[in-house]
Amino acid sequence: MPIVIAIDGPSASGKSTNARLIAKTLGYTYVDTGAMFRAFAWSCLKRGVDVHSPAAVVAALRDWNATLECVDGQVRLLVDGYFPEKEIRTAETSAAASSIAAVTEVRAWMKEAQRSCVKFGDLVMEGRDIGTHIFPETPIKFYLDASAEERSQRREAEGVNDDLAARDKRDSTRAVAPLTVAVGAIVINNAGETPQQTSERMLVEIRRLLAERK
Ligand code: DC
Repeated sequence: MPIVIAIDGPSASGKSTNARLIAKTLGYTYVDTGAMFRAFAWSCLKRGVDVHSPAAVVAALRDWNATLECVDGQVRLLVDGYFPEKEIRTAETSAAASSIAAVTEVRAWMKEAQRSCVKFGDLVMEGRDIGTHIFPETPIKFYLDASAEERSQRREAEGVNDDLAARDKRDSTRAVAPLTVAVGAIVINNAGETPQQTSERMLVEIRRLLAERK
């Protein structure tokens, strides 16, 4: 069974940067599950689906053409064979992603797709519910965090206009698979650290846990 490193945390907590660094160092496949929710949200917006209507969202889910591929050690979700890399990063898509992510059927679809990623080998998977719901059985789980102020500053520095507070509230209070610290997760507050420092701290823990597995 491939190894899965689960990384969860709120928006701008450094999940993507650190997950990428760790995947590269270990030679594992990187999976950005937020990008998968964003791709579905983008597809809904493109088709004029009301993302605030669960019934409309479920109907769109039954009728979308999505495929997974792995390119350069990174999993991508294609919509009608197209990877909407830039389109999924707009403020509109961010807000829509958080809405469609609260729909039970969407989460069930994503869970199946995300678990199937082990076909691409050992994984570093980041999101909101990886350690709690997608791979609860993995012994290697992290929860990254930093203060709301610092996280907002990071997004501003990236030039991204994103209502983090609203999104975090929705992501942690929804009924299905809300963002919470998984049992057994190592909590890392990376305030004031560089990604190199945080990923080094994480790699120390990962190597220790991998050695224990043997
Ligand atoms: O990580 P991100 O900001 O790209 O995620 C976009 C939205 O998708 C986020 O607001 C909540 C949702 N999401 C989720 O509910 N579960 C995940 N595993 C990943 C993302």
